[in-house]
Amino acid sequence: MAILDEIRRFWDDDAATYDDAPGHRPTSAAVQAAWTAALEALLPAPPARVLDCGAGTGFLSLIAARLGHRVTALDLSPGMLAGLRAAADAEGLDIDVVVAPAHEPPHGFDAVVERHLLWTLPDPAGALRAWRAAAGGGRLVVTESVWGDADPVEAVRNRGRQRLRRLRGGAEDHHGPYPEEVRRSLPLGTGTHPRAVTELVLGAGWRNPRLVRLRDVEWAATVELPFPERLLGVSPRFAVVAD
Ligand SMILES: C[S@@+](CC[C@H](N)C(=O)[O-])C[C@H]1O[C@@H](n2cnc3c(N)ncnc32)[C@H](O)[C@@H]1O
Repeated sequence: MAILDEIRRFWDDDAATYDDAPGHRPTSAAVQAAWTAALEALLPAPPARVLDCGAGTGFLSLIAARLGHRVTALDLSPGMLAGLRAAADAEGLDIDVVVAPAHEPPHGFDAVVERHLLWTLPDPAGALRAWRAAAGGGRLVVTESVWGDADPVEAVRNRGRQRLRRLRGGAEDHHGPYPEEVRRSLPLGTGTHPRAVTELVLGAGWRNPRLVRLRDVEWAATVELPFPERLLGVSPRFAVVAD
């Protein structure tokens, strides 16, 4: 699929600097701790077999492995997974790594997790259906942010956040812009909203979705920001959990 090749190229090129953005790999112990508390509360009790889809450099995989889960990290990009491998080795964490597209996962899991993947899938509904088969009878934990045009008020705030960050010379999130022709072909390519994510999860056959706002993650990240960025805080983080 040509579009997946383009997406893979983007992330292979992004891998060297991806972790430099605080929103990707927070250096703050408090933000890490808030994410750890969130995952501990949302995942089944350890040791569960956890599949992290679009694992990238391993943000969720590493936390889940530290919590005592048996983690498989799946990603399209070997470059991103090389970062995960190095980080896992540095901590002595045993994480299986699979290079594959999100809609073709291995099976046999108790839970599927993801962070910030759905927006870049050409067929997010198809991937969510495939994850259901990958974790028959298991749990889904989708973690996302409200961004882009999905919510007009947040869109204005986000533009303000970006302007202020650039004014102080803060790092960009990525090495370059996402290819526009790729973005146009992605159902969530212009933004993610809790309503759209919950509807997709239900439509894929997952049951009993619960929407959880990740307020502690937001709070811990917001208090790290310098003035005046702190007034705008970070974009809303949320999880959709389903069976
Ligand atoms: C925004 S990054 C998120 C990485 C990681 N989950 C995190 O929270 O830092 C998106 C990741 O999804 C991967 N990706 C994009 N499209 C994919 C697909 N179709 N199948 C699997 N992985 C994909 C990219 O290679 C990249 O590592």
